[in-house]
Amino acid sequence: MTPKIIVFDAYGTLLNVNALDGLLEHHFGDAGTEISAIWRSKQLQYTWLRTLMERYKPFSSVTMEALDFACNSLKLKLTEPIKEELLHSYLQLEAFPEVRPVLMQLQEQAQLAVLSNADHAMLEGAINHNKLTNVFAEVLSADAIGHFKPRKEVYQLACDAFKCLPTEILFVSSNTWDVVGAKAYGFQVAWLNRFNNTPDHLGYREDLIIKELSELVVSS
Ligand code: 2OP
Repeated sequence: MTPKIIVFDAYGTLLNVNALDGLLEHHFGDAGTEISAIWRSKQLQYTWLRTLMERYKPFSSVTMEALDFACNSLKLKLTEPIKEELLHSYLQLEAFPEVRPVLMQLQEQAQLAVLSNADHAMLEGAINHNKLTNVFAEVLSADAIGHFKPRKEVYQLACDAFKCLPTEILFVSSNTWDVVGAKAYGFQVAWLNRFNNTPDHLGYREDLIIKELSELVVSS
């Protein structure tokens, strides 16, 4: 498979959603890791619920509501200054270390894009912070649709941007629900399974499983 267009999910795939664990531990001690897990899980659930309810709010708001839930569920006080610090840090989330060097290589063999549930301000914050500004031909956000992935209209943004068929795109995600959604839409899909996760059982499977992004680089 040597695709000419590679589209990446952002959070969990390029950006490390556990990058704030240290900051959470600094503020909340041993509960930090648990907050982090509940925070991410609720963030995703809220995107799906808002999509089903047709009550869209940008990913930045959903992310903060999920953080409120995480602290509330553990009976922890989330002060405004800590909340602001966490939001600010989330806007500058670290990419996984291999991301920048591998994307620089992939840029030589394909057009690259991001397709994320996050709004543009969040994506641009993270892209700038991780020095990925000139890497992507397109940065596509569910915000343009007012629903979140896995709604097919969000995946369609990539085909509209590149004026191509779904099968001409290789979509790369670490998130199993996103792999299923992207495959159901019709993309070629690579599941970046860094952490030996279990696939979702929804009848749609990836075309390719990789453990590292570098496996997408075609040697010349
Ligand atoms: C994304 O970046 C939320 O990880 C998901 O679209």
